[in-house]
Amino acid sequence: MRSTLHTTDLLQPLFFALCAAGALAAMPAHALTLRVESVQLPTSTRAFPGDSSGAKAANSYCLTCHSAGMVLNQPDLTADAWLAEVKKMKDTFKAPVPPDQLPVIATYLASIKGKK
Ligand code: HEC
Repeated sequence: MRSTLHTTDLLQPLFFALCAAGALAAMPAHALTLRVESVQLPTSTRAFPGDSSGAKAANSYCLTCHSAGMVLNQPDLTADAWLAEVKKMKDTFKAPVPPDQLPVIATYLASIKGKK
């Protein structure tokens, strides 16, 4: 059996190619200007205080995206609120914290910044 080649088989890819070319041509030239920029990032040597397992976990898992100051300058929170905060870091911001370390970190934070 022979397959028949229809004109539409050829027109469709041609149509898409023309659309793509049209889209590129429509882009203003300045849209693709690349510049070299340099920025000075703030540095911080501040770490989570202590050498408990919680402090170690916080120093291992909580300093990749922001400083300890970001955490330590928050208002005092209840233990539940700290747990919710640490879970938010993992679930929403994808902090790579092992699940068993979540309560360890939350308990530690509640011990140094807990709301009585
Ligand atoms: C993957 C990146 C990432 C990691 C790792 C991370 N965080 Fe965050 N954290 C963020 C971002 C992004 C914000 C800012 C959220 C905003 O501006 O609303 C933030 C903000 C915070 C805040 C401020 C309050 C808030 O909710 O915005 C606290 C407290 C905090 N992080 C605690 C922690 C703790 C504790 C850890 C370790 C378990 C941690 N973070 C690890 C991304 C991260």
